[in-house]
Amino acid sequence: MTDRPIKILLVDDEAGILKSLEILLRREDYEVSVALGGRDGLVALERERPDLVISDIRMPGATGLDILARARDVDPEMMVILMTAQASLQSAVQAVNAGAYHYLQKPFGNDELLAVCRRAVEARSLRVENRALKKEIRRRTRGHGDRPIGQSSCFTEILELARTVAPTDSTVLISGESGTGKEVVARYIHTLSDRSEGPFASINCGALPETLLDSELFGHVKGSFTGADRDKEGHLVAARGGTFLLDEIGELVPQTQVKLLRAIQEREVIPVGATEAVPIDVRIIAATNRDLEEQIRKGEFRSDLFYRLNVIALVLPPLRDRRDDIPLLARHFLERMAEDGKAPRTLSKEAEQALLDYRWPGNVRELENALERAAVLSSGPTLEVEALPERVREVDPPGLVDAFDSKNPTMEVIERAYIHWVLEAEGGNKSRAAEVLGIDPSTLYRKINRYGLGDS
Ligand SMILES: Nc1ncnc2c1ncn2[C@@H]1O[C@H](COP(=O)(O)OP(=O)(O)OP(=O)(O)O)[C@@H](O)[C@H]1O
Ligand SMILES: [Mg+2]
Repeated sequence: MTDRPIKILLVDDEAGILKSLEILLRREDYEVSVALGGRDGLVALERERPDLVISDIRMPGATGLDILARARDVDPEMMVILMTAQASLQSAVQAVNAGAYHYLQKPFGNDELLAVCRRAVEARSLRVENRALKKEIRRRTRGHGDRPIGQSSCFTEILELARTVAPTDSTVLISGESGTGKEVVARYIHTLSDRSEGPFASINCGALPETLLDSELFGHVKGSFTGADRDKEGHLVAARGGTFLLDEIGELVPQTQVKLLRAIQEREVIPVGATEAVPIDVRIIAATNRDLEEQIRKGEFRSDLFYRLNVIALVLPPLRDRRDDIPLLARHFLERMAEDGKAPRTLSKEAEQALLDYRWPGNVRELENALERAAVLSSGPTLEVEALPERVREVDPPGLVDAFDSKNPTMEVIERAYIHWVLEAEGGNKSRAAEVLGIDPSTLYRKINRYGLGDS
């Protein structure tokens, strides 16, 4: 597949088994990491992103099946081998049905394990290659790969700005609600930049605990914390010649904000536990679905870092504010979903109208999912409105749905959503909205400011 070593993650709640398997696999030149127990396993999966996971099924906390499910999320091509004692043979069968590559019944011989590993690695490289080829074919036949789709004036303006800044090395801050296409636009900038031959890498700043995030971003030296058994290059260093997307930048803790600011200013990072700085050569793009300026006011985000990141600001509007793009995006997704050689499905008039009327709190991602679901549910060439998710078919007070979607919405969340809805329903006319809400216009103005509803 490649020249880099194959990474294997071992998960078991028995330290003895971990140790002996580790020794065995290391001898075969695999790069091995171990996790004691299911919970550690889940964390290690995301951190290590191994090619292959070998996990016990029965463990307290999280089971092998949980590991399998998470592995699918992290990397659909990650191979999972489960180990089981006789008693849980049934769950082993269940596991293979759920997508595990193989299961090994304990006790098993070394040769058996190594043979299964070799086959799994081979199978993985075929899968990866296959996916790459498919993607390439798609890119060639459609000619535009992951190009962001949109024709509304606000969206095309953003793309134009993205094209203008792409060839520079400026830091870009992309903000917008979840699912509006922040990553798509970040990739677009990378593709059009002089760095397009280099890597595009990203990290979700909210997904990892602080210490782990620091070592992922900046690297660490051997012995700097327990488990740091060798030097590790940070992603900001490893992405040399390319572009690095810092996703969910609003989640960064203050200490990491300081380090990042330094990295941007000095173009170098200090790995955790190191004394010497390491230069970086990377274009930084940051993305957020939070209001950073609000976070600055609350003292949660450093303003100096904000100004460094915000050199170019791209604000992606929610899908409901660019409804022109809905039919175009829908067609794009249906084309992409079309089976080989078959014409893409089309939408019935009613279905298209439902898509146009819905508020799309999850934005383009939600639209994509709704269409995928509809495509699976219908057999004919036309997607009828019945195949769309119920919430899309229902006409709801916009915004309120989102508020109630969260498990325990606070009074404030609901009030904000309701005010927003009334304002929209009254076409932004604040005195009429105040009347409907039964409050003083001055009270409404205060609430609008407080909830940041000014621009809607
Ligand atoms: N303009 C677009 N054209 C084509 N596909 C799009 C567009 N915008 C979003 N998508 C698709 O919608 C999904 C969500 O997009 P993306 O991951 O870029 O959103 P995001 O803003 O980064 O969301 P989050 O804040 O949740 O990370 C992806 O599958 C992406 O391919
Ligand atoms: Mg994203």
